[in-house]
Amino acid sequence: MGIQITPSILNADLGNLVNEIQRIPSADWVHIDVMDGHFVPNLTIGLPVVESLAKSIALPMDCHLMIEDPDRWAPTYIEAGAKSATFHIEAAKNPLQIAKDVKSAGGRAGMAFKPGTSLIPYLDLIPAMDMILIMTVEPGFGGQKFMDECVVKIEQARKEINRYGGSIWLQVDGGLSLQTIDRCAKAGADVFVAGSAIYSAPDPEQMVEALRSSAITAFRANN
Ligand code: DX5
Ligand code: ZN
Repeated sequence: MGIQITPSILNADLGNLVNEIQRIPSADWVHIDVMDGHFVPNLTIGLPVVESLAKSIALPMDCHLMIEDPDRWAPTYIEAGAKSATFHIEAAKNPLQIAKDVKSAGGRAGMAFKPGTSLIPYLDLIPAMDMILIMTVEPGFGGQKFMDECVVKIEQARKEINRYGGSIWLQVDGGLSLQTIDRCAKAGADVFVAGSAIYSAPDPEQMVEALRSSAITAFRANN
């Protein structure tokens, strides 16, 4: 699939979501941060908004579910019109069943790891997923500082994914900018979420392209 850029609308103007999403037409996906005020100490948007957006935007939605009980809710985001639903392993009761349910609803299934969660106990779940998400900040808020110590986990995930032929996507999320995207791409990530770097740029669309070309060069240099 190659390198993909997935802007997060968390730091966009949430009162003008459709317009904000139309400002980034060359993005591959739009990343929707769903937070429930329990799994993370912040509350954002949920199913009804995803359902409405699906009727108004052209970009496919990548829903990052920072919520409790993803077993119940993950497939409903696909039914609401998202193309991808990523649950947190820390919140999941039966991750294999979630992946199965998301896929049978017609979506792609992602499994996310907070910075403090090791991949090791969950390695055997990787081949059942379409995407692995390595968080490079504590989930909950946009605009935080990139955590360099998470880069080794990206390398580790890349190694595992390659054992299964390399077709599972490896996403990174948190603190990505022109200053930090290269080290993630070098470590083997191929799907990049960026919120504040894109929406605080004078020209968000141009920033999508700048991040993409930076990631392509860095990924090729080392993978
Ligand atoms: C954090 C979210 C991220 C965040 C990214 O909990 O999952 O998607 O919005 O924003 P930046 O790029 O500003 O770190
Ligand atoms: Zn996110």
